[in-house]
Amino acid sequence: MSSETLTPNERIIVALDVADLDEARGLVTKLGGSVGVYKIGLELIYRGGLAFAEELANEGHRVFLDAKLLDIEATVERATAAIAMTGAHFLTVHATDRKTLDAAVRGRGDSALKLLGVTVLTNLDRSDLSEQGIEMPPLALVQERARLAQDSGFDGVVASGKEAGALHERLRNFVIVTPGIRPAGAATHDQTRVVTPADAIGAGAHYLVVGRPITRASDPRAAAEAIAAEIAKAAG
Ligand code: C5P
Repeated sequence: MSSETLTPNERIIVALDVADLDEARGLVTKLGGSVGVYKIGLELIYRGGLAFAEELANEGHRVFLDAKLLDIEATVERATAAIAMTGAHFLTVHATDRKTLDAAVRGRGDSALKLLGVTVLTNLDRSDLSEQGIEMPPLALVQERARLAQDSGFDGVVASGKEAGALHERLRNFVIVTPGIRPAGAATHDQTRVVTPADAIGAGAHYLVVGRPITRASDPRAAAEAIAAEIAKAAG
């Protein structure tokens, strides 16, 4: 990775994909210090999630705003600057083109906000890309966009467990955040290409995004600790 060394617990990003802020606050309380980062996605952002992000950051928590920005440069720049003011630690931006990436880097300014590129959404396959006029295998496009993000000054990318290995080999000092994590034997829900925590760490992921295996567990804290133990073993 780069400058900081993370504990296994700090490498877990829990996706707060819940119906409302009360439920999100309840989870944060239950989890205590067992995870490193709280991810607030589009559903919660539009239900008071930005103020909640600020509240969590003020309490000393790390927050990941999964806002997946994409717009004209002036808008991306100002939105990134506004998000930086919440004290969030990570923000996602679509890594489709240089103008968007450069605008986010300008908007971040000298704040501590870390920018993560979203390369190709994992629900899109080759035929979906073809419909957009892109005749390139998804993995090649992921690599090209990840390189563009790094060249622009981004800190990392969100990448599936299947992509993480290829990116890790080519991009040094670039943070890889991997969702679609399922401990062995856990329900896959609607995820089709899941990897275990150990496999993701083995492929080079620095952070793991985990939602339902933690948030829907009868004991979320115990579920997070079990994943941390698996990370520790794999990273060992
Ligand atoms: O509950 P689960 O562990 O499947 O949640 C995964 C989280 O990671 C969700 O917030 C989802 O939006 C996010 N994500 C994903 N796959 C991607 C990018 C983000 O599952 N390719």
